[in-house]
Parts: sequence; structure tokens; C-alpha cells
Amino acid sequence: MQLYQRAEELIPGGTQLISRRPSRFAYGVSPVYAVRGQGSRIWDVDGNEYIDWVSGVGAIILGYADPTVDAAVKKQIGQGTVYSINHPLELELAEFLTDSIPCAEMVRYAKGGGEACAIAVRIARGATGRDKVLFCGYHGWHDWYLAANLSEEAALTPHLFSGIEPIGVPQGLRGTAIPFPYGDLNALKQKLQEHHSEIAAVIMEPLRSEEPPDGYLAEVRQLASQHNIVLIFDEVSTGFRPSAEGVQPVVGVTPDMAVFAKSLSNGYPMAAVVGKREVMEIAARIFVSSTYWSDTIGLRAALTTLQEVRRRHVPDAIQSLGRRIKSKLNEMGKTCNLPVTCEGVDFHPQLRFLVEDALLQSQLATLYIQEMAKRGCHGYPSFYLNAAQDEDDLEQTFQSANEVFSLIAQGLKDENIDSLLECELRQDAFQRLVR
Ligand SMILES: Cc1ncc(COP(=O)(O)O)c(C=O)c1O
Repeated sequence: MQLYQRAEELIPGGTQLISRRPSRFAYGVSPVYAVRGQGSRIWDVDGNEYIDWVSGVGAIILGYADPTVDAAVKKQIGQGTVYSINHPLELELAEFLTDSIPCAEMVRYAKGGGEACAIAVRIARGATGRDKVLFCGYHGWHDWYLAANLSEEAALTPHLFSGIEPIGVPQGLRGTAIPFPYGDLNALKQKLQEHHSEIAAVIMEPLRSEEPPDGYLAEVRQLASQHNIVLIFDEVSTGFRPSAEGVQPVVGVTPDMAVFAKSLSNGYPMAAVVGKREVMEIAARIFVSSTYWSDTIGLRAALTTLQEVRRRHVPDAIQSLGRRIKSKLNEMGKTCNLPVTCEGVDFHPQLRFLVEDALLQSQLATLYIQEMAKRGCHGYPSFYLNAAQDEDDLEQTFQSANEVFSLIAQGLKDENIDSLLECELRQDAFQRLVR
């Protein structure tokens, strides 16, 4: 916390990523600065060890400091990382991606998820000659997306969180980014009608932590085709946890473009924009260009990570872990008589405290984070899984959760949850529309 106080003086906003703000966890109790990560675990500046159930906010899919990926990266570093010319790895990774991801016929690279979404939107606008973008979910920090809050102050509230002021976003973009609610086909149809023939793209998170409603994504696909709109799946958060080929084979729907980052390269900065040739090829004429997009550390890390995800059957392993977490925590909730459920897709289980009162709900979530942190389990009331999390981690987590559930159940019975909290309430988590 001393470091964070210094950071607040030196770094506006304190952290580079909102999800790393200590106010997102148990403020003053949860760890804030890590100095090491290995496998499933991180160590904070004070030497405390934690199982990290946030997996580098999704970036880590194999585990921290994965020996295979790191050896490949170190070898690459020994050969230089960026040159004045290109490296054949660009093609090798592109071939891997086009062989495995259903919509991928051509590929461009970037370094972050938001950046890759901005590239995808630029390409879709270029390919269609239209300006407006319909979106659902979170897609980064760039002007095209935050423009949504120029028109309607609360436009991003259900997609991200409340209170985002579009400071610094040109007023001229007003009306160009239009949200639509997840799972509601009529609402989407209405938006398509309203902005008839002005829409370049529908960009959406196809799912996050819950299964999409039956037939929903196929209908979205059909609507996009009907209106000649580019359909973009933002797979940054789901990544390669649903399958080694991403989410498309799992939901059975093929978009025109897709965006990947995070789990693509086990924590090394790397992103990819992939898509059908007919949409992507205009990018040869569009100015999307950056020195570090050909950096070989990201390329090598991505290629090795994807090969390892396949070789180790990581999606199966992660999903089996998720099923065990859901089943055990639900069982414990029942035993402790605590109104809690653990549900959602197997690769991203979510814990929910089933109380009506919003304040109490937030108190319970904060108390859970606080008490789990005290027992060496860092996380939200949700689980971002990786392949290094093992039996020991499960055992420690279940034992901790059992104690924490009992403590919360007792607190509810005694109506003294307030007094159990040793920190401020965590600030609103992302109020995701796409769950
Ligand atoms: C669905 C989705 N899109 C885009 C982003 C932005 O990615 P990055 O933080 O790498 O810019 C995120 C990050 O959480 C995300 O979850």
C-alpha cells in the first residue's frame, strides 16, 4: 500500500489497467504489487505467496513462467528481438492461426486486445465504407469505443461500468458507436433498422462466462450477413480456454473477423486480428502499421503457447478443473447454509451471493475476497483458470473457501457482516452485459 500511495503521486490513476487497482479487490488486504510468478502462484513485494485465481487477468493460460514458452522466448532473445526487416515467424504464426481458427484466412498482429479491436473496426469500416459500429461487451480504451458515451452518458454502463466520462474523445464521433444488449435479437434488429445501411460492423463478445441463449449467435450471424455488415467476435477474454481453436467451433458460428490477445501468448504482449480474405485484404491499403507488431518475442511466445495448449490438451484440463470448482463450492455452500452459487461456463466459474440487497451483495463479495486473500488465495468471486493450477491449489482453495463460507454464513446469521469487513467495499466490478 505504501508503493501504491507513491504510485498515485507518479502514475495518474495509480495502475495501467483498471482491473489491477487495489480498490477492485479487498483494499489494504489483497496484494497490490507482485514481484514473482511461478506456475499457479504469485509472490507479493512483502514475500507473501498466493494462488492467483485471476491468471494475470486472463493473460496466463499455461501458468506463470512456463518453462517451454520461456525457453523458446529466451532462445529468441539470444537471436535479437526486432530487426530492420521481418522475421519468418510472422508467416509461421499466421499459418498456425489460419489452420486452426474457422474464420481466419488472413492475419494482422498487434500488441494488446484493445488495440487489436481498434484495428478490426478500422478494417471493417474500410471494407464497407460505412462509419457506424454496433457493439456489445467490452472492447478496450480506444476512441471508437468510448465514443458510445458521447451520446448517452450511460451507454457503457452495462457493458463495462458506470461513470466513464469520454474525456478526450472527439465530439465528432458522437453517434458512431452504438451499444446493443446481449441476447436480445429484437433490440439488435431495431438498431439495424434504425441505422439502416450506415453500419460497418457488429463487434461483440460472443460469450464471457455464461453460455449464449440457444440459437442467438447464429441469428446474429444471419442478421449481419443480411445487412452486409462485418461480424467481429472479440475473443480476447475467452481466448483459447473454450478450445484450442478459440470459441468459434464451440458455439458453431463463424464470424467474418475475430480478435485475440491475452491467452494467445501466455502473458507476453501479443494480439492478432484474423478474418476472411474478402474483409481483411483491404488492410493492405489501410494505414495500420507499427514497429513492435513484428517483435519476435510476442510471435515466438504465441506460436509456442498455442502449440503447448494443443499438446497438453489445456482446454480439457481447464474445463475439468472448472467443473470441480463449481461442484465443490456449490456443495460447500449448501453445507454451510450460505446463499451462494458457483455457475457459468466450465472455463470461467462465477461465484454469486444470492441476496436481494445490492449493498449486502457487495459486502459479501468484498468479505469473500478479503478472507480468501488472508488464506493465500488471490482473486475475485470468479476463477480465471490456467493449466498450472493443480490438486494442491484446489485443496488449499477448498479448505479456505470452507472456512470463509462458514464465517460469512455466521456473519449473516448474526447480522454483523459489517464488522467482519476490514476494508472498504470493493468498487463496482465490471458490470458485464455479456456474462
Ligand atoms: C473482451 C475484451 N476485449 C478487449 C479487451 C482489451 O484488451 P487489452 O487489455 O489487452 O487492451 C479486453 C480486456 O479485458 C477484453 O476482455
